[in-house]
Amino acid sequence: MNQILSFKRHRRLRSSTFLRNLVQETRLSTADLIFPLFVQEGVSLRTEVPSMPGVYQLTIDLLEQEVRELKQLGLKALLLFGIPSWKDDLATSAYTKDGIVQRAIRQIKALYPELVVITDTCICHYQTDGHCGIPVNGRIDNDKSLNIHAKVALSQAEAGADILAPSSMMDGFVAYIRHALDEHGYENVPIMSYGVKYASSYYGPFHDAADNSPAFGDRRTYQMDPANRLEAFREAQSDVEEGADFLIIKPGFPYLDIIRDMRNSFHIPLISYQVSGEYAQIKAAAQNGWIDERSTVLESMISMKRAGADLIVTYFAKDIARFLMEEK
Ligand code: PBG
Ligand code: ZN
Repeated sequence: MNQILSFKRHRRLRSSTFLRNLVQETRLSTADLIFPLFVQEGVSLRTEVPSMPGVYQLTIDLLEQEVRELKQLGLKALLLFGIPSWKDDLATSAYTKDGIVQRAIRQIKALYPELVVITDTCICHYQTDGHCGIPVNGRIDNDKSLNIHAKVALSQAEAGADILAPSSMMDGFVAYIRHALDEHGYENVPIMSYGVKYASSYYGPFHDAADNSPAFGDRRTYQMDPANRLEAFREAQSDVEEGADFLIIKPGFPYLDIIRDMRNSFHIPLISYQVSGEYAQIKAAAQNGWIDERSTVLESMISMKRAGADLIVTYFAKDIARFLMEEK
């Protein structure tokens, strides 16, 4: 080798598993994961979502088994979605005392009190038109929706939810829900706002899982334009001012730049939501033998953490917990 020529040997630190582990900058742990769970009415039903192989809608009597599995795997948090048996114009089934989510919360907290139960606070699965707000003359009425969202939030807090995750993207939803909670003695229930939520095609398979496709129009009058970055700062800023304790950025993988932007500007815990379409993409390619599921899933997780996410909502949470256990 020419003595005068000098260059850096980056490969030195990659030369063994031992060294690679030592210098690894981003790490993934089971404690970073939030598992989304769909609960449906009925008895002993475990319905697989067609566009999300491996994801199931469960009835309440099957929660015991499910929660035991989460505990064994070391998962600490779940995000609960309900599929009600009836819908109306004002999403009444989203906030009745014996609603599907309210009963599921009580059941889960009775079975496993330490499990952090986060509820999706929205009305689209419960409202006839499938929108996240209340339509008035064909338009989503912001302020009329806020009243209903506050009722949903209160009913979930009353049932024992540990964290509320409002996802409607109505203006003022954090302020309104915070105020309602505080007025009713729930000042210690945190809000995990889906404050940076893009109008994304990646939600497609979720509409199968939760039966919440809009009956008219789309969600672009309240969710964000995928082309916009500065708008994410405006949304996050108002949520933080209104009292959000956590901020969700959604979808995950296609919006890594936004996660990094939010990390650099806001100092509350950030959550990246790896949505249904991201799950379906990986799953479908893996089922075809086109990519390796395990390593691709783990890489997608590390990428979101590297971008700045503290926690990740992912339908792969149970699989990842298993992978991480096997690595030990
Ligand atoms: C509805 C809601 C959606 C998701 C979570 N809550 C769908 C939407 O806004 O259209 C998407 C989750 C996923 O795709 O995994 N408030
Ligand atoms: Zn919604």
